[in-house]
Amino acid sequence: MNLSKGEREGAAAEVAVSVKNVGMRYGDFYAVRDASFDLPKGKFLTILGPSGSGKTTLLRLIAGFGQPTSGEIFIGGQPVSAVPPHKRVIGMVFQKLALFPHMTAAQNVAFPLKMRRRDARTIADQVERYLDLVKLGGFDSRRIHEMSGGQQQRVAIARALVFEPDLLLLDEPLAALDVKLREEMQLEFRRIQKELGVTTINVTHDQREALVVSDEVIVMNDGVIQQRAKPVNAYRTPENAFVANFIGVTNFLAGPVSSVSANEVAFRCAARELRGVSVGSGPAIEVGASCSGAIRAEQIRIAATPDRLGTLAFQFAGEVIDAIFEGERMVYEVNVAELGGVSLRVFDHDPIGHTQFLPGERVLVGWNPKDMHVFGNNHSQN
Ligand SMILES: Nc1ncnc2c1ncn2[C@@H]1O[C@H](COP(=O)(O)OP(=O)(O)O)[C@@H](O)[C@H]1O
Ligand SMILES: [Mg+2]
Repeated sequence: MNLSKGEREGAAAEVAVSVKNVGMRYGDFYAVRDASFDLPKGKFLTILGPSGSGKTTLLRLIAGFGQPTSGEIFIGGQPVSAVPPHKRVIGMVFQKLALFPHMTAAQNVAFPLKMRRRDARTIADQVERYLDLVKLGGFDSRRIHEMSGGQQQRVAIARALVFEPDLLLLDEPLAALDVKLREEMQLEFRRIQKELGVTTINVTHDQREALVVSDEVIVMNDGVIQQRAKPVNAYRTPENAFVANFIGVTNFLAGPVSSVSANEVAFRCAARELRGVSVGSGPAIEVGASCSGAIRAEQIRIAATPDRLGTLAFQFAGEVIDAIFEGERMVYEVNVAELGGVSLRVFDHDPIGHTQFLPGERVLVGWNPKDMHVFGNNHSQN
């Protein structure tokens, strides 16, 4: 993989964590394969991927729990393997918080400092400071089993940070929380990380979380890093079909390539010729080979009449199959006969007119070719 602009800029800053060609093999199975990245000091990185993609394995190796079967990891320039786990200055929060339920919030937060034999005055000051940081000032004598899920989460964060680690590792700590609390805690993580400037690696399968909290995102699948980018770039310019599919709601239209020029690709989809741009790496896009055009649900317009679609270069007649009211938007499934009867998912925000199309209605859908990303297909996908 070539270095992205972000990676080159990162190389100039002080590197906090360096992962070099790391692999983790169990028998014949690679849980992580040839993973490499540098993380500049003070950045918030999220490793995003589906369940089983190797996120926890990679995070545990960074924490120094177990040795990679190949490659090496450096923290602050030192090989992790050279430092025993209890000597590493790493804060961790996992999905299972492992708080002491019958102890108070303050006793839980004090624990890492007691382990490190800090004096009583320092412990009291630090505990107060970090409980304030997570907005639990005044809760110091509350016992863990008397606290809500969100409050317990805050205690766990305070405990992970109270000894001022060089690195904070988070393994899906928010996965068990309900949506509203999870979204609130995502913003809290971001606020706290910005306030302290602690280098953070967060692991999640939740794309929204990755986009919201991170300076940078690494997308993983089947143990392999698919893309490393700033959230907006992972979303807008996915490197391959996996990333395009995993982040956002994406429609794929497949067909044989008819022409390629610069980074524009034309391909045949049933009765029509479509065009799009090729931005990623991955399988080659050659005339005659199969490709997939990816278009996001929010980049497709839906309307009753052509004047409402304006100047969009591609327009198709379709029929509404399903219409789902999601509050702030409508989600439609539209069948397009001209494109081989494909069903397209379309988001529609119409805060002024409140238009709602009904199943069975004839509509038009359209998009701009520049919003369609074309990826070469592997032979196995044909
Ligand atoms: N100790 C192990 N022995 C064998 N396979 C393992 C072991 N640990 C993890 N794996 C496998 O490695 C893959 C990645 O696991 P994991 O890193 O936990 O994924 P994630 O955190 O992304 O869900 C999974 O297929 C898992 O079954
Ligand atoms: Mg995991």
